[in-house]
Amino acid sequence: MTVCVLHAAAEMFPLLKTGGLADVVGALPPAQSQLGTHARVVLPGFPAVLAGLDDLQPVADLGAAFGASNVRLERGVLQPHGVVVYAVRADQFYDRPGNPYLDAAHRSYADNDRRFALLGWAAARIATGADPAWKPHIVHAHDWHAGLAPAYLRAFERGGAARVASVMTVHNLAYQGVFPASEFGALQLPGDFYAVDGVEFYGHVSFLKAGLYYADRITTVSPTYSREIQTQAHGAGLHGLLQTRTHDITGILNGVDYSIWSPSVDESIAAKYTASKPSAKSKCKTALQERMGLTRDDDALLFGVVSRLTEQKGLDLLLSAVPDIVQRGGQLVVLGTGDPALETGMKNAAAAHPGAVAIELGFDETLSHSIIAGSDVVMVPSRFEPCGLTQLYALAYGSPPLVHRVGGLADTVVDSSLENLADDLATGFVFDTFDRPGIVGAIRRAFALKARRTDWKAVVKRAMNQNFSWESAALAYADVYQGLMSR
Ligand code: ADP
Ligand code: GLC
Repeated sequence: MTVCVLHAAAEMFPLLKTGGLADVVGALPPAQSQLGTHARVVLPGFPAVLAGLDDLQPVADLGAAFGASNVRLERGVLQPHGVVVYAVRADQFYDRPGNPYLDAAHRSYADNDRRFALLGWAAARIATGADPAWKPHIVHAHDWHAGLAPAYLRAFERGGAARVASVMTVHNLAYQGVFPASEFGALQLPGDFYAVDGVEFYGHVSFLKAGLYYADRITTVSPTYSREIQTQAHGAGLHGLLQTRTHDITGILNGVDYSIWSPSVDESIAAKYTASKPSAKSKCKTALQERMGLTRDDDALLFGVVSRLTEQKGLDLLLSAVPDIVQRGGQLVVLGTGDPALETGMKNAAAAHPGAVAIELGFDETLSHSIIAGSDVVMVPSRFEPCGLTQLYALAYGSPPLVHRVGGLADTVVDSSLENLADDLATGFVFDTFDRPGIVGAIRRAFALKARRTDWKAVVKRAMNQNFSWESAALAYADVYQGLMSR
């Protein structure tokens, strides 16, 4: 029997993206459809979502909900893969340009609870027949934005609807969608759902906790992170609940969409190259140095960062190591946006080291490809990292990643230690302790390896030959779904 799944999420590449969640929601459904799972997606009807869908058609009138008077469901198609996407139309919630969560002053919208309750509710409505032409067997909710979907499914079941199974995927436990308890009344859930065994979280409402409690299965985006989140140190207050659900939790590593992230096909980089003919990579480096105002020098080891500038990403630690990079003749280029203190820190580093350190503040898809291709080493020194995609892109582009040994970074990068070089395993640089000596040691290993031409080339080639396909991830999700179908 063909399994039909509805993904509920806030972002989907290329329609709307603030981070890796969008890349996953863009790539997983087509990979699933290739393997015979029918996957559709429901998104809030943000302007960029509506603008990017073909053949948008009305599906259903959902009436008034959460204070929005006229909620409608529309269905469109996202090319090139032909993924069917539902857009929830509630213009008073979603007709806001730019970042889906924050206003122009970078503050969370005051009505985010109702905006994203509507997403989860609409997913549950589709699952219980709102589209007469299609119904999923499984609702697959991504992150807190869709965390209430499993709760609404249970609520509708109580009202007589048929049972629909659900999966909750945690892309990042640090964002939980926590709101004041006084907002619970606006959520249209049965009163007894406000309980420890329910959506209540230390006297508040937590959308992510709701998903973790009510979903039939939980997945997260790497095996190591799936274990980390069950510990007090990394469980962000939810480790207790996660421990009770340990048998329902699976860690499934994200993949790479190699039709977008491959130096042999990438139209946005200065020159294409492959693992067997990597020489044109140096043209990408020169172009990047010119673009960013760095000294044009093929011998300078160029470190690149493409990242949200948040506490998670460990860029404060990187800032402390900038002198170590520059003193050794290296260069650093950073593309990112976020925390004002980190933005200022980066700007100061660039001002202190003109020609050697350059920063571009903002979100720029094309430049992100140029940095991944043009850097010698891509840095991801995160404090924690559920999966991480930039290190996977860096591997594909032969830019050995330098990472902290946590979460998905630990699962995907092998350090260039002498043992790993001898065993033909090394693909990058991994440090164990999140402190200056840790990161500086890895930076020194990168310089040392670069000086050993043959070993450097071997690591670059091995990195490029790694394969993190969406097919393997889609097969692993299919297993999770099968477990639910056979219940
Ligand atoms: P996270 O989802 O935690 O931000 P990931 O590594 O999983 O981290 O995914 C980040 C995604 O967002 C990658 O596709 C990366 O290239 C992209 N990205 C992050 N910051 C920027 C930026 N400033 N400009 C363009 N792309 C960015
Ligand atoms: C989150 C995580 C990141 C992960 C991405 C996609 O934003 O921070 O590690 O790769 O989601 O799953």
